[in-house]
Amino acid sequence: MATSENYDIAHLGGVELFTPKFEESLHFFRDLLAMREVARIGDSAYLRCWDEYQLYTLKLTASDTNGVGRTLYRASGPEALERRVAAIEKTGLGHGWRDPEVGVGRSYEFEDPDGHLMGIYYDTELYVADDEDRPALKNQASAFPGRGVNVRRMDHINYLAADVNAAGEFWRDVMCARESERVRLDDGRYGAWWFRFNQKSYDVVYSDDWTKQRGRFHHFALAPDTREDILKAADIFLENGVHIEYGPYKHAINQTFFLYVWEPGGNRIELANAGARLILDPDWPVVEWTQAERAKGQAWGMKTIPTFHTHGTPYVEGQEELDRKALAGEL
Ligand SMILES: [Fe+2]
Repeated sequence: MATSENYDIAHLGGVELFTPKFEESLHFFRDLLAMREVARIGDSAYLRCWDEYQLYTLKLTASDTNGVGRTLYRASGPEALERRVAAIEKTGLGHGWRDPEVGVGRSYEFEDPDGHLMGIYYDTELYVADDEDRPALKNQASAFPGRGVNVRRMDHINYLAADVNAAGEFWRDVMCARESERVRLDDGRYGAWWFRFNQKSYDVVYSDDWTKQRGRFHHFALAPDTREDILKAADIFLENGVHIEYGPYKHAINQTFFLYVWEPGGNRIELANAGARLILDPDWPVVEWTQAERAKGQAWGMKTIPTFHTHGTPYVEGQEELDRKALAGEL
């Protein structure tokens, strides 16, 4: 049975990505995805999707490497925040409270068992549209851009993990997220694990990192309005020399329509559309897939691309060769 603690986290609140090709990555998010830059501080640009109610969606930071920085999660209220912080502190994974910063009030910083840096907060800055992006309707955060991929909102984040079980148990038992689906490998471990905060079928995912490095990033998913937008996105990426890794296609797990590309900095970005599918039953039991079932591929039969378990950021030594071997079936 779901408990009130299962609703302590409202949603994914913001993601920081590192890029060694800052200008090219900025072009990708700002000009091709149609995100708006709302702040520039130090080496970081803050970008937003057009229908996010908060100030920003993505903090893009120039760096000598790629990968994910801190992921922010918004608590459902002040008491929910305190409850989750108390639970995190018991695990020894807490780093402590951080001062307010761009777009968010004070936050509590922590890491998951795989070493991914995270923060949880409640106080936030609501986005106020200006003359450039004021919407026609007052129930919309800002105007529809009408260019590029038109990403509307963030959807989910997927981390690679050396130990999917440990990371998943943390999200189930400490963060009180509910499992939606998972893959059990023949050796008993979980190969991937999906979690949800509310009725959207997933918000946080962990996938097995075949390199066994800790703390790597798999992808960040942004949602345009429709599946048709994702087909058009593939054309836009093709025209602009963006590496298309996989899709457009339909996932078997959770049934989202997807397209995976590598932005110029090497980080994997997914364009995802869930259609009308929601999980309304608060007690919907977790759906478990066997390794043999997963081997059948995605919804309509296309096999999962092998680089899904090798290509991550930051890169490991010999990343390119590793991805090549994965594609050639040599691993
Ligand atoms: Fe995804």
